[in-house]
Amino acid sequence: MSNKVSIVGAGNVGSIVAYSLAMQGLAHEIILVDRDTNRAKGKALDMSHAASAVRSHSIVRAAESYEDLKDSKVIVITAGFPRKPGMTREDLLIKNAEIMEDVVLNIKKVAPEAVIITVSNPLDAMTYTALKVGNFPRNQVIGMAGILDSARMAYFIYEKLGYGAGQIRASVIGGHGDFMVPLPRYSTIAGVPLSDLLSQKEIEEVVERTKHAGAEIVGYLQTGSAYFAPGKSTAIMVEAILKDSKQIFPCAVMLEGEYGVNNVVNGVPVMLGGNGAEKVIEVTLDPCEREQFRKSTAAVQEMIDILEKEFFKG
Ligand code: NAI
Ligand code: 2OP
Repeated sequence: MSNKVSIVGAGNVGSIVAYSLAMQGLAHEIILVDRDTNRAKGKALDMSHAASAVRSHSIVRAAESYEDLKDSKVIVITAGFPRKPGMTREDLLIKNAEIMEDVVLNIKKVAPEAVIITVSNPLDAMTYTALKVGNFPRNQVIGMAGILDSARMAYFIYEKLGYGAGQIRASVIGGHGDFMVPLPRYSTIAGVPLSDLLSQKEIEEVVERTKHAGAEIVGYLQTGSAYFAPGKSTAIMVEAILKDSKQIFPCAVMLEGEYGVNNVVNGVPVMLGGNGAEKVIEVTLDPCEREQFRKSTAAVQEMIDILEKEFFKG
């Protein structure tokens, strides 16, 4: 089975995805595509040298054209504009939908069977766009955000506690935006419930900081958004698909009746394997969590409505 991985968008996030995969020797061949061909070429060469230094068998190459993506098992799409200070993810909507359409139509021609991981923002709406433009089954297009948001929450729990790093399992579902749904009730430290170690006020502070972690980093960087954790989180998804590991991760998928939602992409636990999103898992939510998930779905639906009216012109 092919374990070739292609990455469209060799910017900050795309580079970290490629670098993580190359350092782990996870893919035999990693292809970088960027509209700035020299950026892709320079980074590919540099990463191939790094892979050689650690005796990894991964080769990183820049694509000359989309033909080079043929036989990819997984294709990651990070092409798009990043968020700038003061800009919401929603501001990026139409601009990045145009890029997503172009990229997906090209992929469809050369690698119609590849599992696609979308990263470009606004994440849930871009995942919807990729699914719709490519007319793919839902298992084939999966959005990356939940692993990142959960990792951020776990880190903020660590900051409050001052111990337990590496043992914290946090859970975040919902859309990748201000309406994401952190689930403290399902977050643990070495199996100990969060509520046994932090006060309600501390938990609320963790939840708020998690929701705004992306913006916090944009505020520091000024010229772009986070890329180390987003890149690594994406590489984790690629690994699960390449290894057919059947592990559960929070990912953005098209909901087809689960959680009482239809035809909206939102973040939920998903079992990842060789065929992509092989199973969508329904977590039991209490009334308050259900209401938060409903609001989150409504926020994504609002973007989908804009796309349908202004982009798909339905
Ligand atoms: P970046 O600006 O560093 O990289 C984007 C790359 O895409 C650039 O190299 C650009 O030349 C390329 N590009 C643009 N249009 C293209 C096209 N049509 N074909 C090929 N390449 C094209 O941005 P960065 O930081 O890598 O972020 C990428 C995207 O990922 C942004 O939309 C950002 O908001 C999003 N993001 C999403 C996260 C998530 O959790 N889902 C987390 C972090 C970033
Ligand atoms: C993030 O959460 C900007 O979506 C990006 O860092």
